[in-house]
Amino acid sequence: MDAADISQDLEHVLKTSDEVATRVGELAQQVDTDYAGRDLLMVGVLNGAMMVMSDLMRAMKSHCTVDWMAISSYGSGTRSSGVVRILKDLTTDISQRDVLIVEDIVDTGLTLSYLVQNLKSREPASLEILTMFRKPDALTTSVDVRYVGFDIPNEFVVGYGLDFAGRYRNLRDVATLAPHVYK
Ligand code: XMP
Ligand code: MG
Repeated sequence: MDAADISQDLEHVLKTSDEVATRVGELAQQVDTDYAGRDLLMVGVLNGAMMVMSDLMRAMKSHCTVDWMAISSYGSGTRSSGVVRILKDLTTDISQRDVLIVEDIVDTGLTLSYLVQNLKSREPASLEILTMFRKPDALTTSVDVRYVGFDIPNEFVVGYGLDFAGRYRNLRDVATLAPHVYK
């Protein structure tokens, strides 16, 4: 029996894997330059940031270390609940460290503003944010994102780590889902 092809659930591709790879390379260069001579700790937000983290790290030329947090803000649906819980905390003491939060996507910005507030209280030397994707709503929130891969329209997207109900993270492109999948 043939495996089901999950790309059949997609509506349209917003960013191809090639476009994403090119942009990640550019971001890596900027991060390399900005953190030259410093001891960078990258904090990835599970599970969405797994792809951007692994590509970004490998595209960088300088040293970096990595740690992960898991937080819940969405449940399994497609809208932010505004309620953020830490499901897995860092294993690293970030006090006096140069920390870069690595995110898949900023939508309302609720998740990130919670995270920034939480991590700032641990007194890192610096705290910046990199996100692969950003939606227009995020531009009206107070979170200051230093590095943005792409600004995208206000549609729910999957692929490159982004999921719907835990699925579709393994798609290489970033695409909208066909309505029949989530309606
Ligand atoms: P907020 O609204 O708090 O949301 O900025 C951030 C988190 O919500 C998830 N998210 C999405 N996940 N497709 C997804 O697969 C999307 O279009 C989308 N928009 C938000 C994501 O986990 C992000 O960290
Ligand atoms: Mg996320």
